[in-house]
Amino acid sequence: MRKTLLILSGLLLCGTTWAATESGDADMNRFIDSLMGRMTLSEKIGQLNLPAAGDITTGQTKSSDIAGQIRQGNVGGLFNIKGVEKIRDVQRIAVEESRLGIPLIFGMDVIHGYETTFPIPLGLAATWDMEAIERAARIAAVEASAAGICWTFSPMVDIARDPRWGRVSEGIGEDPFLGSAIARAFVYGYQGRDPRHFANDEIMGCVKHYALYGAVEAGRDYNTVDMSRQRMYNEYFPPYKAAVEAGVGSVMASFNEVDGVPATANRWLMTDVLRDQWGFDGFVVTDYTGIMEMTAHGIGDLQEVSARALQAGIDMDMVSEGFLSTLEESLASQRVNVEEIDRACRRILEAKYKLGLFEDPYRYCDPQRAKERIFTPEHCNEARRIAAESFVLLKNDNDLLPLRRRGTIGVVGPLAASRENMPGTWSVATNLQIPQTLVEGLQQAVGKKARILYARGSNIVHDEELEKNCTMFGREIPRDGRSDREMLDEALRVAEQSDVVIAALGETSEMSGESSSLSQIGIPDAQQELLQALIATGKPIVLVLFTGRPLTLEWENEHVPSILNVWFAGTEAAPAICDVLFGDVNPSGKLPVTFPRNVGQIPLYYNHKNTGRPLLGDSFEKFRSNYLDVPNTPVYAFGHGLSYTQFSYGDVRLSAAEMTEQGSITATVRLTNTGKREGTEVVQLYIRDLVGSTTRPVQELKGFQRVTLKAGESRDVRFTIDASLLKFYNYDLEYVCEPGDFEVMIGGASDAVHKATFTLK
Ligand code: BGC
Repeated sequence: MRKTLLILSGLLLCGTTWAATESGDADMNRFIDSLMGRMTLSEKIGQLNLPAAGDITTGQTKSSDIAGQIRQGNVGGLFNIKGVEKIRDVQRIAVEESRLGIPLIFGMDVIHGYETTFPIPLGLAATWDMEAIERAARIAAVEASAAGICWTFSPMVDIARDPRWGRVSEGIGEDPFLGSAIARAFVYGYQGRDPRHFANDEIMGCVKHYALYGAVEAGRDYNTVDMSRQRMYNEYFPPYKAAVEAGVGSVMASFNEVDGVPATANRWLMTDVLRDQWGFDGFVVTDYTGIMEMTAHGIGDLQEVSARALQAGIDMDMVSEGFLSTLEESLASQRVNVEEIDRACRRILEAKYKLGLFEDPYRYCDPQRAKERIFTPEHCNEARRIAAESFVLLKNDNDLLPLRRRGTIGVVGPLAASRENMPGTWSVATNLQIPQTLVEGLQQAVGKKARILYARGSNIVHDEELEKNCTMFGREIPRDGRSDREMLDEALRVAEQSDVVIAALGETSEMSGESSSLSQIGIPDAQQELLQALIATGKPIVLVLFTGRPLTLEWENEHVPSILNVWFAGTEAAPAICDVLFGDVNPSGKLPVTFPRNVGQIPLYYNHKNTGRPLLGDSFEKFRSNYLDVPNTPVYAFGHGLSYTQFSYGDVRLSAAEMTEQGSITATVRLTNTGKREGTEVVQLYIRDLVGSTTRPVQELKGFQRVTLKAGESRDVRFTIDASLLKFYNYDLEYVCEPGDFEVMIGGASDAVHKATFTLK
């Protein structure tokens, strides 16, 4: 084994390279034992401290002199600094000017790409393509690691069933099975397959926000969460657990409470479940000021909540400086003990060791690599391909799409000429000046073959105050000073001269994301009026919908012939949208979330329970579980998404009518491309446990496959069903499958399935 000698501030430390073996662990343990043997109590506590770099910390932390703090050994890592030279400089302070020279870990919210930006995570989820997601995460890792970042606060895998919550855009949608697959894909993409060893172009993931953050009451961000343990284990925990099983190196605690105790101080969550039940052995970081916020939650002062966080199993304190400022005193008063501090410190050092920082603190800061590997043409091509895969064709009457490159194409809407709006929320490393606008993309895509006319048509929303709240972080779409009438008249003149009109409407990118909850989730009023006026002209209208959440589109679904949902698709959004609009790419995305008819239906999700009075038909029935004024169905169901070709499904054939817990059966369906062009269909397998010891959902996704067929081609698509797909957590939280009948459903959306039944003996 190769020995590495590292001279850190005059101290000679002896490290070794490691392999994914016990001897690798033994080497790591020896190294960390020896290092911790030299650390003072305050240096150990310093490792637990994670201040934010840059302006956002001003006034929030006690120590704005971050460099001084680093020199004193009071900092374990920093986050959200951009720039390889800057990071190198800061690392140099830690390594050369602090007593023990322990390198810092540098984190960042690289959640859908670094400079090459991919679709927002909800858009990535809509690809149902795990290779694509892993590839996007891999590219993010290659770029971020070249720029000095070795740790990303991603993946965010909070199941969300309430689209009022803005952070639905950052997550994986409403389904635990799909969410678990996505969690794994992200972790493998960032970290590779060996969680004990990081190459210098891999970065450590941080699964968040553990736990249940997506279930905040009324979709209001940071709000209270309260749910049964059955629901936690069966519906909300699986994606976090999947990330842990894939080897994710760190976990972020959520802001919300769980069972009446904030996650950040919840020992059951952080230790009993995460470590004892799931075997997690990485480190846990709080969310931004998570410890400090527990004083507002009302469970104690900073002294008390910091002690509780440490004892619950938190290892690193993001921004609060609760650990830094209170733990020494808590130790002296025996409120905490030294083993608890040592344990947290050890976990941080282990992460640094696995990342190779003790061997070479600068291995992630290579200016040459930064020049060569960030925002490369190859990465941009991948971003464009994956962006196009994320789009969901919600409807397409009379094959209005794809468009031909000819005649006059009108482009209308306040989002059509915006560059800053394209990448999407939390694209912190994106250069906002780079993305093409949709108008530019269209001009490039048609060249001289067609004429593009543009009119803005409206502001984002009538209410100026709301508009200001919605366009933050340098993503302003300046308000147009003209009157509504003037803007509309211009748009109608463009429509008049056009053969087809593309209406680029929806949300701005900062209408979703953190702290962006909305009580109304339709297309904003000013744009809604514009759309209605365009429809009234009788021209063919294609709605290119920008959104970070499910919107209520009942009117649009009734009146607009074609709707292409493009989310926020990253740096290559515009060319990718054009690829799909003109049919160079056939859309294949499927919704990872339900689109409700109105806000009153929320939460509306496909994998619900049946109740004792389920609605049997489609129309209202007295004394059944339904509303007087709206059907129970959504506008667009989970799994929905059209193609420019059509697919037909044959009956579901089962290899046997019965199976045992040790056995398996195969479900087969014949898929045919009945249309005129090649296309990709996401074939979805759902299962219903017809009788259980606890009530079971009417449908649960248990498999999916992307299948590409040429025009006229047919193929048998097979799914293997074994006990692992039938298990659930029962009343006593035992993971079991129960004998009885199961319904198998296969189709191209959760509400369009063919069925068969088998019995588990
Ligand atoms: C968010 C996290 C994020 C963190 C660091 C918090 O406000 O909730 O998702 O990772 O900030 O930027």
